[in-house]
Amino acid sequence: MQRHPLIAAISLGLFAGAATTSALAEATPLEQQLKDLESFQVIAHRGASGHAPESTMAAYELAHEWGVDYLELDVQITADGELVVFHDDAIGRTSTGEGAINDHTLEELQALDTGTWFNDANPENADAAFEGAQIVTLDELFERFGHDERYYIETKSPQLNPGLEEALVESLEAHDMIETGRVLVQSFEQDSLLKIRELNENVPLIQLVWYHTNEEDDSQLQEWTGVTPGPAEITDEDFQAIAEYAVGIGTNVTYDGNDVIDADFIRQAQANGLPVHIYTINETDEMQRLLDWGVNGLFTDYPDRLLELVE
Ligand code: G3P
Ligand code: CA
Repeated sequence: MQRHPLIAAISLGLFAGAATTSALAEATPLEQQLKDLESFQVIAHRGASGHAPESTMAAYELAHEWGVDYLELDVQITADGELVVFHDDAIGRTSTGEGAINDHTLEELQALDTGTWFNDANPENADAAFEGAQIVTLDELFERFGHDERYYIETKSPQLNPGLEEALVESLEAHDMIETGRVLVQSFEQDSLLKIRELNENVPLIQLVWYHTNEEDDSQLQEWTGVTPGPAEITDEDFQAIAEYAVGIGTNVTYDGNDVIDADFIRQAQANGLPVHIYTINETDEMQRLLDWGVNGLFTDYPDRLLELVE
C-alpha cells in the first residue's frame, strides 16, 4: 500500500520551517486541508444533533451557521441506488418508517418524517419546525453548502450497502469535493477505505477504531475492527500500517465509563503521522480534558459548547 500522495510531502516538511510562507502560498486546497488536520477540528456529529434532529438539514444548517470545521455524516444507499444521509441500519428510531433503510426506495424514504421523534425525545429542544423533516440525500447536502463547507463522511455498514463506495466517489467527483479539499471519508471497515482509495487515490481517509473490554477477560482491551491490537499492545508499526492509507484516526476514549486510551496513545499516533479525532464528546469538562491531551479534533452533538472552548 502507498501513502496518500500528498502526505509524504507534508511529512518531509513541505509546510515546516523557513519555507513555510512560500509553501503555504502555493499549497493546493487539498494540501491545505491536510495541513489543517494538524490543528484542532470541530466536527459536528450528524450536524448539531444535540439541538436538532440528527442528519436533517436543520441540524446541518445550525452547525454551518456556527462555523464548525466539518459536518459529520453517515451515508447509506437506498434500494434504488441513491445516497442518503442516515446513521442507523434500521429506520425505526429516527423516522416514522420501519425496516432496513436499504430495503426502501428514495421516494419511500422521502415520504417519512425524520424530525418529530426528536421533539418527543427532547422536549427542552423541541421545535414545531422539525416536524415532517425529510431524509436528506448527499446531493442535497452538497447542493446546499457546496464548497463553503467540509464534510466528514462515514461509509456506514458497507456490507449492507453494496455499491456504496462507487456511488460515493462518483458523487464526490461530480461535485468536485476532492481536489478542493472539502471531504474526509471515514470508516470502521478498512476494506471500505481501501476500496475508496482504489477508486480515487486522492480521497483523504480516516480509519475509525473502537476499543472495548474483552468479553472473556474484562481486564483486557481489544479493538473491534481488528485493525489494531488493544491499546496496551499497540506499536509504532501498528500506527504506521494505518498511516499507509489513512491521514488520521477516529477513536472512542472511554468504554463503560473507563478510559480505554490515554494521552500517550494520542502522542504515539501523532508521532506516526496520524492526527487523532475522538467521538462523540458532548460534555464541556470532557472536551477540556481531551483538549489538554492534545487531540486533533472532537466529534460532538454540541458544537456550540466546543466552539466556545476553542475560540
Ligand atoms: O463517525 C464517528 C462516529 O460518528 C462513529 O460513530 O456510530 O456515531 O457513526 P457513529
Ligand atoms: Ca458516524
